[in-house]
Amino acid sequence: MLSGSLLPLQRVALPILFLLACGCSRLPDSTYTLRADADRLELPEKHRRQIAAYLSLFHGTPANPRMAEVNEDAVEQAVEARDAAGEEAADAEAEGTAAGSTQSAGESGVFRIAGGDRPGFDRMHLQLGRQVYTAQCAGCHGTTGDGKGPAGGHLNPPPRDYRNGVFKFTSTPRGSKPRRDDLRRILKYGAKGTSMPAFRFLPEEEREAVIDYVMVLASRGQLELDLIREAETELDEEDDFDPEVVAEYVTDIADSWGRAEDELVRPLTVNPPRTEETIQQGAVAFAEFSCIKCHGPDARGSKSADVGQDIWGRTAYPANLAMGMLHGGRRPIDIYRRIYSGINGTPMPSSKDPNTAIAETPEERSDRIWHLVHFVTAVIEGNRVPPDCQEAIYDVLQKQASPPVKDAAFLWDSGPAGFVVAEDRQ
Ligand code: HEC
Ligand code: HEC
Repeated sequence: MLSGSLLPLQRVALPILFLLACGCSRLPDSTYTLRADADRLELPEKHRRQIAAYLSLFHGTPANPRMAEVNEDAVEQAVEARDAAGEEAADAEAEGTAAGSTQSAGESGVFRIAGGDRPGFDRMHLQLGRQVYTAQCAGCHGTTGDGKGPAGGHLNPPPRDYRNGVFKFTSTPRGSKPRRDDLRRILKYGAKGTSMPAFRFLPEEEREAVIDYVMVLASRGQLELDLIREAETELDEEDDFDPEVVAEYVTDIADSWGRAEDELVRPLTVNPPRTEETIQQGAVAFAEFSCIKCHGPDARGSKSADVGQDIWGRTAYPANLAMGMLHGGRRPIDIYRRIYSGINGTPMPSSKDPNTAIAETPEERSDRIWHLVHFVTAVIEGNRVPPDCQEAIYDVLQKQASPPVKDAAFLWDSGPAGFVVAEDRQ
């Protein structure tokens, strides 16, 4: 227990020291940074301004965050308002975000969208969320949620950049948003093996509020990306954004969060008792379903395998399973979901990926994923692939290779893993 609670502290000690050292332990409220500015994108100034205005219309400012909803009426109004350019719009712009439901934007002030706050996203609650975020999270995740807080640059893996709207450790299928419970878990327990601390000490109300605020940052960032792509691919320099299209983006993003709540991945079959046999079957599946291509036959994460980058632009490293630091949780159901869905934003594929598909009937797939879970937990507990599983993996490789592998040693550059290399067995 004790070591469990000390460990995250050690991990945060460095960034906290850093924060204190540079005098930013109390982070000032600042403005959100625009991606167009941070990444020095070549966007026409008009589009840049319109994006800024839309973002503050739908998601407010750090001092006054909001989660706006667009309903059908709002879209209609938006289209009408777009044609009613002029003075009025300029006035509304001058009033700023205080108006809440309306704001104008753009050099020519030609569009206006009315939208209500999304039900459940109370503004006072978001204010609390922002305060908690500023005090507890921004040092790593950055005011805008770009993962570039003052302490962020020193961490590996880096703090999540929420602005893509992509989260890794979800209980939902690949490509889906996390459920609220997923965010609750990561906040409560942290991400083992990374610097993401556990925030159990925060009162529940504050944890709930900061989750809402993270959802605002993620939605805001995703809208920004959508608008940048829209500008780059659909708009000529002199064009304005079509308010209807903008409203669709906002609605799609809100819907994707809403949908995730009903997308919980539930195994089709029950977790069978773990036996030597199920662990071995897991080892066979590990070899058959290309897991070893990335994780290596010794499950230590092949360092030579080039598996590409993650969507945050970093080289992806297949997890060293023998280290036992599962970032997404160690319960069998967590590992099941990780294997079933893969890991969003990274090359770790879903079990339905045609290249690595665990492609039998859904029930068989579910059984085999449980076997993989048993294998993975056995590797974690023993800090290595159990010897009889090494045999099983070796046999699969022998069968698969044509011509048959004579010397499979190159497959497991095992280092200290103690993996029996091919020569030993001949
Ligand atoms: C000491 C730095 C640090 C602090 C402080 C911190 N985080 Fe993190 N956080 C991280 C890192 C690093 C990751 C990435 C873990 C990974 O990639 O496996 C992360 C990931 C996350 C994720 C993404 C989980 C997923 O499934 O992708 C969420 C959500 C999150 N943090 C929320 C918060 C919130 C909310 C706070 C404040 C209450 C906070 N973090 C404070 C470092 C930090
Ligand atoms: C294309 C390469 C690739 C393949 C194939 C692959 N993985 Fe992964 N896997 C990764 C990468 C990369 C990560 C680390 C992702 C991250 O957290 O950034 C990972 C992480 C993991 C994790 C750690 C999850 C956690 O919570 O931290 C497990 C467990 C895992 N993989 C199991 C498997 C199994 C079982 C298979 C075969 C069905 C498999 N992987 C196939 C690339 C791959």
